[in-house]
This record gives sequence, C-alpha cells and structure tokens, in this order.
Amino acid sequence: MNPTIDLLKSHRSIRKFTDRRVDDQTLSAIIAAAQCAATSHFVQAYTIIRVRDQAKRQAIATLAGPQVWVAMAPVFLVFCADLNRLEAACDVQATTMEKGWAEQFVTATVDAALLAQNVMIAAESLGMGGVYIGGIRNDPQTVCDLLEIPDQAYPVFGMCLGWPAHDPPPKPRLPVAAVLYDDRYPEVHDSAVLGEYDRTTNHYFLNRNSNLKDETWTHQMAALMGRVIRPHMKAFLEKKGFFLK
Ligand SMILES: Cc1cc2nc3c(=O)[nH]c(=O)nc-3n(C[C@H](O)[C@H](O)[C@H](O)COP(=O)(O)O)c2cc1C
Repeated sequence: MNPTIDLLKSHRSIRKFTDRRVDDQTLSAIIAAAQCAATSHFVQAYTIIRVRDQAKRQAIATLAGPQVWVAMAPVFLVFCADLNRLEAACDVQATTMEKGWAEQFVTATVDAALLAQNVMIAAESLGMGGVYIGGIRNDPQTVCDLLEIPDQAYPVFGMCLGWPAHDPPPKPRLPVAAVLYDDRYPEVHDSAVLGEYDRTTNHYFLNRNSNLKDETWTHQMAALMGRVIRPHMKAFLEKKGFFLK
C-alpha cells in the first residue's frame, strides 16, 4: 500500500542476530525517533536502560527463561514505566506529587509501550530486527536490583535488537473483522471466525521455516489462559509504589 504499511506488515520477532554492532549514533537516532510517540498529557513517563554489562545481561537472560537471545543480542533494552522525573518536575515547581494512583500506572505503562513499539519500528526501518522480552517480569525485583530501578518506576519489558541472522515469516494476525466493530461491542466473538483463524494459524505453524508444529491459535490461547502467570506482579507493583489506590 505504501512503504510504512509494508514495513509494519513485515514485522516478525527476531531472536538470532549477526555479530554486527549497533553503533551509538544509530541507537540514539532510533530512540530519538521513538520518543516522538504520542504521550499522555506530555508526561513521557518512561526511562530506557541499555544493559551492556555482560554479567547483568546473563543474569537477566537466565531469570527471563532462560532466553539466550537476551544474552546474545547486540542491544538489550529495558523499558521502565517511570514517574520519578515527574516528581522531579514537581520539585522544580516546589509542589507535591500525588502518588500511587492506578491511573498513573496505566499512563506510564502505556507511554512506555508506545515508545517501545516506535523503537521496534524505527529499528526495523533500518533493516534491524528485535523481540520484546516480557520474561523479565518473571523476577522483576531482581531486575530492579540489578539495574538499580527505584520505587515509582518498574521494568515493563525488555527488547533485544540487532541485525537479523534468520528470516522467519510474519505470523498471521486475526482478521480485521474479528477486532474492528462499528458503534458497539459484539454480542459474541464469532467461533466461525476463530475456526477460520485456527486453519490459517495451523497452516502457518506447519509450514514456517523452523519449529514446525501442529498447533492452532485457540489451542495455544486456551493453554495460556488456563495458567496463572506471574502471580507476584500485584504485590511487586504495590511495593514499587504503583497501583495502591
Ligand atoms: C510485551 C511482549 C512481551 C514479549 N515477551 C517475549 C519474551 O519474553 N520472549 C520472546 O521470545 N518473545 C516475546 N514476545 C514476542 C511475542 O511472542 C511475539 O510478538 C508474538 O508471538 C507474535 O510474533 P511476531 O512478533 O513474530 O509477530 C513478547 C511480545 C510482547 C509484545
């Protein structure tokens, strides 16, 4: 349709990287572009930590799975939702910041996610690739200890970036008709549409260029949603000063 839409539609997570370095200038250009993402009330409630120390990298790779690409990627970033700079702004203005509100948690988390997705797209526009790493939330307190992330900030996810050393095909997404509705929420999520999507995803899983499996989307989601995942998150976020009221 146009080069931007073509780029968006060519996304696939990259988990194997060549040895080629990502120089500081390139990374700065990516981050500067990403910062142009919309931000709630202009708050820019995020901080990115580039993890260069190999011992810290390895510790995070281990707690995240282990996920070897976290240790191996040329760049590994941790995206933090962060209210501390806003408190500093209040200090500049000699005012007191309201703390602990769920709305602030949502605002900072959404801001960090919008920034991160722009990082991914900017990197992909340069021919690079990457993968988000939610696995860091397996042990978010250790990530905070390793990276000295204070209260009023938390690591939302990580991201590996670099030059692709494999070429997986894009994963087919749900049809637009399954996610876009006019004027009101649908009465049901049409099982016929999901059945059709299962056939699409089954074909993808059986025919992609690695890790072939006889799998479908609803089967994968049913297994996922039947599990309790990271039950420590509520207590962790409360301890960090989020989500208290
Ligand atoms: C917030 C978030 C966290 C993710 N965490 C991981 C992760 O820890 N490890 C991983 O290999 N992929 C992770 N992924 C990648 C997803 O598995 C991937 O985006 C999804 O399967 C769709 O595949 P695609 O990105 O190739 O289109 C994560 C993606 C998102 C958005």
